[in-house]
Amino acid sequence: MRNHNRLYFLLAVLTVCFIAYALIKNYLIDPGADSFLSQKNGLKRELNLPVWLNVMYIHVAFACLAMATGLLNFSATLYKKSRKLHRSFGYAYILSVMLVVLSSGYMAPYATGGKISSIGFNLINIIWPAITLVAFIQIKKKQIIRHRNWMIRSYAFCFTNMLIHLIALLFENLLGFSYTASYTAGIYGSLALLLLIPEVLLRTIAKPRKLTPL
Ligand code: HEM
Repeated sequence: MRNHNRLYFLLAVLTVCFIAYALIKNYLIDPGADSFLSQKNGLKRELNLPVWLNVMYIHVAFACLAMATGLLNFSATLYKKSRKLHRSFGYAYILSVMLVVLSSGYMAPYATGGKISSIGFNLINIIWPAITLVAFIQIKKKQIIRHRNWMIRSYAFCFTNMLIHLIALLFENLLGFSYTASYTAGIYGSLALLLLIPEVLLRTIAKPRKLTPL
């Protein structure tokens, strides 16, 4: 397998597994988000549970749609076969990003860890759509390589939730931090890594190759 194909295959496996995990965990195993919500204490404002849960369902649904459409649009085969499909998935991706961010905006004030966590989430709420918008502007200017690179930067944020929980797990179990402090560390740690990892990839294994114009 060529390097790019291998990379795509790995990304596809990771994404499909995480989508399946997110859907099964949040809609089937723990639809009341009991395990997550039981860790929230000392909230400054009262959480309206039915509204919060519905917003969370919308959040997860569009997060999964963003992950799926983004993944499909990185496929060279699909891109070669149908530019029309690539464009449709692209618009679905942008819409999904906006809805994830919008729902996140509702949930952020109730975030585990209080104001400091909330600020971290809102930073991502600004950075992710901004990066996605740059990717969109680049393709409108027919800058294919730049569009691809900015989409790689944007797509990284689809892994925000996964990374938050991985980092939090590490802080809690290996470093002995409290759950709340670990969760906050997860938010800022993932923000830093999600900005850094695409830059490393773009300079190493995801170096652009020649693409046919849209
Ligand atoms: C794209 C993949 C994402 C998935 C699958 C996802 C999924 C989830 C899930 C399942 C929750 C409920 C709590 C938990 O189990 O963590 C949640 C909470 C939340 N998510 Fe996301 N999310 C994603 C991306 C994002 C992004 C990019 C943001 C932007 C900042 C965000 C902001 C939030 C906020 C603010 C909460 C509430 C946290 C809290 O109450 O402490 N999520 N997300």
